[in-house]
Amino acid sequence: MSSIIRVLIFAATAVSALTIGEINGNRFLSPYNGQSVSNVSGIVTAKGPDGLWIRSPTPDRDARTSESVYVFGRYFGGNITVGDAIVLNGKVQEYRSNKDYLYLTEISSPQLVTKISKGNVVKPSVIAKDTSDPPAQQYSSLDGGDVFAVPNNVSLVSVTNPVLEPQNYGLDFWESLSGELVTVRKPKAVSKPNNFGDTWVVGDWEVTGRNQRGGLTMTDKDANPEAIIIGSPLDGTSNPETTKLGDDLEDITGVITYAFGFYRILPSTAIKITGSATPTLPPATRLLSSGKCDGIAFGAYNVENLAPNSTHMSKIAAHIVDYLKSPDLIFVQEVQDDNGPTNDAVVSANLTLSTLSRAIAAAGGPSYAFADINPVDDQDGGQPGGNIRVAYLYKPSLLRLYKPNPGNSTTANAVLPGPALKFNPGRIDPTNAAWTASRKPLVAQWEVISGDYRGTGSVFFTVNVHFGSKGGSSSIQGDARPPVNGGVEDRLAQAQLTANFIKDIVAQDPNARIVAAGDFNEFTFVQPLEEFAKMSTLKDLDAVAGLDERERYTYLFDMNTQQLDHMYISKSLEGKARYEHVHINTWVGSVEQVSDHDPSVARLDVCS
Ligand SMILES: *[C@@H]1O[C@H](CO)[C@@H](O)[C@H](O)[C@H]1NC(C)=O
Ligand SMILES: *[C@@H]1O[C@H](CO)[C@@H](O)[C@H](O)[C@H]1NC(C)=O
Ligand SMILES: *[C@@H]1O[C@H](CO)[C@@H](O)[C@H](O)[C@H]1NC(C)=O
Ligand SMILES: *[C@@H]1O[C@H](CO)[C@@H](O)[C@H](O)[C@H]1NC(C)=O
Ligand SMILES: *[C@@H]1O[C@H](CO)[C@@H](O)[C@H](O)[C@H]1NC(C)=O
Ligand SMILES: *[C@@H]1O[C@H](CO)[C@@H](O)[C@H](O)[C@H]1NC(C)=O
Repeated sequence: MSSIIRVLIFAATAVSALTIGEINGNRFLSPYNGQSVSNVSGIVTAKGPDGLWIRSPTPDRDARTSESVYVFGRYFGGNITVGDAIVLNGKVQEYRSNKDYLYLTEISSPQLVTKISKGNVVKPSVIAKDTSDPPAQQYSSLDGGDVFAVPNNVSLVSVTNPVLEPQNYGLDFWESLSGELVTVRKPKAVSKPNNFGDTWVVGDWEVTGRNQRGGLTMTDKDANPEAIIIGSPLDGTSNPETTKLGDDLEDITGVITYAFGFYRILPSTAIKITGSATPTLPPATRLLSSGKCDGIAFGAYNVENLAPNSTHMSKIAAHIVDYLKSPDLIFVQEVQDDNGPTNDAVVSANLTLSTLSRAIAAAGGPSYAFADINPVDDQDGGQPGGNIRVAYLYKPSLLRLYKPNPGNSTTANAVLPGPALKFNPGRIDPTNAAWTASRKPLVAQWEVISGDYRGTGSVFFTVNVHFGSKGGSSSIQGDARPPVNGGVEDRLAQAQLTANFIKDIVAQDPNARIVAAGDFNEFTFVQPLEEFAKMSTLKDLDAVAGLDERERYTYLFDMNTQQLDHMYISKSLEGKARYEHVHINTWVGSVEQVSDHDPSVARLDVCS
């Protein structure tokens, strides 16, 4: 008999009396995918709107094979309740709603053969007690040790289908419990709820990267696979919308499944908050300007699509005054044009920036002057019509542009002998294809005009960036390994252009004072910023100032507090350098959040 005929016959006959462990197998995909199975025994552990979960009455001792499975069938189980021991027929199926996700193993088209007994005790497996601890660093053996490695998408879980190593890899751990009824003890929220009300948590197991607030900070090669998202409750209740980073929750019991790109627990009922971290709001920065070149305060803030009539305008202004303590020079990103998202030919942001300046003064701050360069209409990405750009706010009593000579949207800045700038301020190589649909960095040269120093003794350069976004990324728990880091090639090219410009300044003056800051949309330990630091010779200010790696964050995404916003400084600025991230937006609930980024403040000595 040819093997093809044999396979056809095999597929046409139902495989009888497999255990659930055998159906799941010890890999991601079931060895019985696509086959009919009959006389599968299981005890019902939970019911959902579209099916139910059963657990094997004869578990094996293999930690790699889940002893539970989802039975998908909207009209199945009308007479079946939790605790029933049943025997069923059905078809093993690997299901995913999107080609970039992992597959969920399920039994579809179920038919009840018999109900054997009812009222069986159903005890959840306690994670980290009845199971090993969730792995805390690596996601998959297919990531080659670095979930952020470039190139991305070198292999697919669904093709390689590796044997599970639940003690070593997060995806393998959660897959080995697919379908299982579990309890998470002493859960702590490590995110706010997403748009569907789902919230990431960790239980009472060992974690890495825990910051003082209770969140999990992403670090080099460690993106916290020990966290799990809590999805929609099985009883139809809704999870709270007010959960905040670091909140304590009641123990959670539910079933593990995979949907919408993530392993998740569907809890039996809505999660409950039992306590929140204090204080509710972070303290204001302690980094105050000295009012002289030996202690210039630099702020940086992505103000999230700020337009003149934005409802968050006054709140941004209050943050700058109350929490950033009105730094001398502020790098802002995501400033929209004068009519915000209205998609017309308007590109000027004078009204937006003067409105912000007035709002800051009204909140008790100084009268900031501002500097920016209008983009070419609709060429810099972001919200359609918004024409977002980077800009500087500065105290004109303390700072001024050094020999100002503003460039325009299309002319490339250059470094002249001095070093000095051809355009002050000016954009870096704005017509280069690397900046397609992205913001061009704005370079400026400044002098301190009050205090002890004047003129070239206190001249410094700034580079304000907002690199391309991570849009198009695949889920960190998705099929592509390492996951697709959307726009990473663009950011690499952008980082190289920016670093080369900075290198030109350093080549003329190894002691030049340079601050590059803004929303780099990338982590320091990923290729674009590794290249940026190496080529520019600038130093990551977080490292220079000695911030604990776990406290380096300005953004909350999925299960990770993470740092997209950075400051890099030249060697001459390292002495006395101080830096703080002010967690005014990551700590609060979604309703109180003013921008999606936290601002930062540095104090640097720019005297010669
Ligand atoms: C399922 O089990 C029943 C009862 O033990 C048996 O009669 C039947 O033949 C089995 N079905 C298959 C397909 O093996
Ligand atoms: C429930 O059981 C009754 C009686 O055995 C049967 O008539 C009915 O069809 C069953 N309902 C479902 C949804 O299976
Ligand atoms: C990853 O690569 C495969 C081809 O190997 C492709 O089909 C898939 O779409 C890619 N995934 C993503 C998220 O880009
Ligand atoms: C601001 O004005 C623009 C039109 O210029 C309008 O589209 C937008 O809805 C307004 N936003 C608010 C918050 O009022
Ligand atoms: C914007 O303001 C600058 C001065 O800050 C001025 O030179 C420029 O003409 C203004 N542009 C518009 C469109 O009003
Ligand atoms: C920018 O300035 C250059 C000359 O320096 C000029 O040729 C060009 O047309 C200007 N572009 C815009 C968009 O104003």
